[in-house]
Amino acid sequence: MLNIALPKGRLGVKVYKLFADAGYEFPGMLDSNRRLVFVNEELNMRCFWVKPFDVPVYVERGTADIGAAGKDILLERNPDVYELSDLKAGYCRMAVAAREDFTDDSRRTLRVATEFPNIAQNYYAGLGRDIDIITLRGSLELAPVLGLSDVIVDIVETGTTLRENNLHVLNYIADLSARLIANKSSYKFKNVIINEIMRRLEKNS
Ligand code: PRP
Repeated sequence: MLNIALPKGRLGVKVYKLFADAGYEFPGMLDSNRRLVFVNEELNMRCFWVKPFDVPVYVERGTADIGAAGKDILLERNPDVYELSDLKAGYCRMAVAAREDFTDDSRRTLRVATEFPNIAQNYYAGLGRDIDIITLRGSLELAPVLGLSDVIVDIVETGTTLRENNLHVLNYIADLSARLIANKSSYKFKNVIINEIMRRLEKNS
């Protein structure tokens, strides 16, 4: 049986629709219930909802043979998996943002609030800038507004959340979208079926 981990939430719904359009349907997956595991006996496949941040963990350890994960999560966790293809869904960008009145003083340590400490660390290490990372779990926009941080490193999609909190983008760090990932040994031993899934998803995206 082939095991597939999809990220629970908005991105997961988009990705599941790609799978369904490609002929991989798991009845009940989009119903509003709290079930997490769905089997399609005919396909000999099992699909399950996983917290987006945890998809690479399931795939890296082989509990899932393949999965779909945002590029943000792959950059942050740097898992030992194959990134097979860009699913061309959930386009957004990782950005540094600050209050309109913010000016950087390079003599001071920059306070950076983020859900992505490794991405932020790598970005500022590349610039040779000293930073103090403040790791938060969502609603990052509050941090510079209330003075907890100087800047945030966060996902920007439409820019609405920034605008509505009087913040603006200082720099873009990376383009993001959903990626198809595979466990390394699954890719070796279940190569035919995984390549077939990849090919069908690419045809539909
Ligand atoms: C994400 C992100 C921003 C927002 C950006 O948050 O962290 O806050 O979306 O989208 P926009 O540019 O279209 O406004 P999400 O809604 O996932 O919730 P969170 O703040 O709890 O992470």
